[in-house]
Amino acid sequence: MNKKLLFTSIALIISVLTSGFLSTKEPKRIEIPISRQRSGDPDKGFKYLINGDYVSSGIPYNLASVFMPKDSSNVLNREGDSAFVSPTFNLVKHANGTRILAPNCLTCHSDKINGEFIVGLGNNSFDYTINTQGLTTMLDQFIKNRYSVESKEYESFEQFKMASDALSNKIKTKVRGVNPADKLTAVLVAHRNPVSLEWIKKSKLELPKETIPTDVPAWWLLKKKNAMFSTGIGRGDFSRFLMASSLLTFKDTTEAAEIDRHFPDVLAWINTLESPKYPRSIDEELALKGRKLFDLNCSTCHGTYGDNEKYPNLLISLEEVGTDPALSNAYTGGMYADFLEWYDKSWFTTGSTPGKVKVEGGYIAPPLDGVWATAPYLHNGSVPTIDVLLNSKSRPEYWARSFNSNDYDMVNIGWLYEALDTTQNSKTYDTTISGYSNTGHTFGDDLEDSERMAVIEYLKTL
Ligand code: HEC
Ligand code: HEC
Repeated sequence: MNKKLLFTSIALIISVLTSGFLSTKEPKRIEIPISRQRSGDPDKGFKYLINGDYVSSGIPYNLASVFMPKDSSNVLNREGDSAFVSPTFNLVKHANGTRILAPNCLTCHSDKINGEFIVGLGNNSFDYTINTQGLTTMLDQFIKNRYSVESKEYESFEQFKMASDALSNKIKTKVRGVNPADKLTAVLVAHRNPVSLEWIKKSKLELPKETIPTDVPAWWLLKKKNAMFSTGIGRGDFSRFLMASSLLTFKDTTEAAEIDRHFPDVLAWINTLESPKYPRSIDEELALKGRKLFDLNCSTCHGTYGDNEKYPNLLISLEEVGTDPALSNAYTGGMYADFLEWYDKSWFTTGSTPGKVKVEGGYIAPPLDGVWATAPYLHNGSVPTIDVLLNSKSRPEYWARSFNSNDYDMVNIGWLYEALDTTQNSKTYDTTISGYSNTGHTFGDDLEDSERMAVIEYLKTL
């Protein structure tokens, strides 16, 4: 090699090394900056959440009251006829005056533990393995027969039916208990013009076939977070993401803008939520030992609790956390490219308070307030208890639970489950399916059993 070439090669190598060009790895931890939010009125927000018409087409109330059993529990303390409606539906008026039942946020953002209904707890029992086409078709026939296609009742159902038809076989999950919300949103935007938001009959976007499962995060954590969703992609104005359910039914940007006016109130209400307290007694001495271990091994990512609370808002790379990569990869790897492009061009990013999507890869290290109540664990709900989350070798490959909210393990924290050799049915969580794996987050593996018990005892106090 001649001298000059050698010289330039060395210079090149040095410059490349110092510029970090050669290190193709993403940074391990990214600090997520604050996104400013509009302020709102929490009381108005809660009223709107449980009575509002942010979903504006649905099942005619007169018909629903015939075949849907009355729910007298009224866990939401609603008034009038709404008092007898399931908490996961709002009784609202369609634009043509017909009273309808429309699904609300609590379909996915409420569930029971030990028989107690908790608003804001992620629903982890719903069954999305079923194709709902049959149900929609049956409803369609029912409404047509009873009221005719020209009726106001049918008109109040029509948009809901179109959206349900579009979704029916596209948001099926492989096991019960996980949620298809990312795909659901992608399918709905595929049927919307990004600028006018009007419904398009035939989908124009290219979307992946598979549905990547997610576990719904608890609402009381949001007030600490600088980004929404386990991938941390939700930035800018959070209210613009909160109103995603309205993609089911809004007519145009006029209706969207009207709905958008209310969501800062909903956000303000969500930000008032506190995590539920662990209802049993706590071994204070053990918890104190656990706190020390937690502060040593866990708090750099998950923050500190109690006096001087700190939450670092970190996005952890796939390389470091090692949990199932499918959801993160769907955004970084081009699978959702059309969906992301749609968003950037859409009404949601317009005006003085735009929503923003920032794709960086990895998962956020969530706050752990009320973590005793939020099983199953990890962003895909693949791990039944904290006990096995903190000991990766003992995690079950196949596990089944009863889906009865009373079967909660208050000692190891999580769902009482049976480890199986193979899958039996859709109630078996099968971690061998792509997107459903239970790998990674090995940060508890080096703890002694007694130390692990102490950390779990401490986690019960959060
Ligand atoms: C079909 C189920 C479904 C419905 C309906 C739904 N959500 Fe969600 N929501 C989810 C899932 C799943 C996630 C987490 C997605 C992820 O992390 O990738 C989520 C995330 C969120 C988050 C972010 C939480 C966090 O800490 O990152 C908020 C807040 C939220 N939803 C509010 C709402 C509101 C308000 C409504 C009603 C207008 C609503 N959602 C309707 C399924 C749903
Ligand atoms: C390097 C950062 C990091 C460290 C250290 C860390 N975690 Fe995590 N933790 C994460 C991330 C990221 C997630 C989310 C991963 C996912 O969902 O795929 C997570 C998830 C969790 C969850 C599940 C939350 C839920 O609701 O699903 C628990 C519980 C948890 N960690 C506890 C701990 C404990 C206890 C320790 C210490 C022994 C610890 N973590 C150490 C980054 C970390």
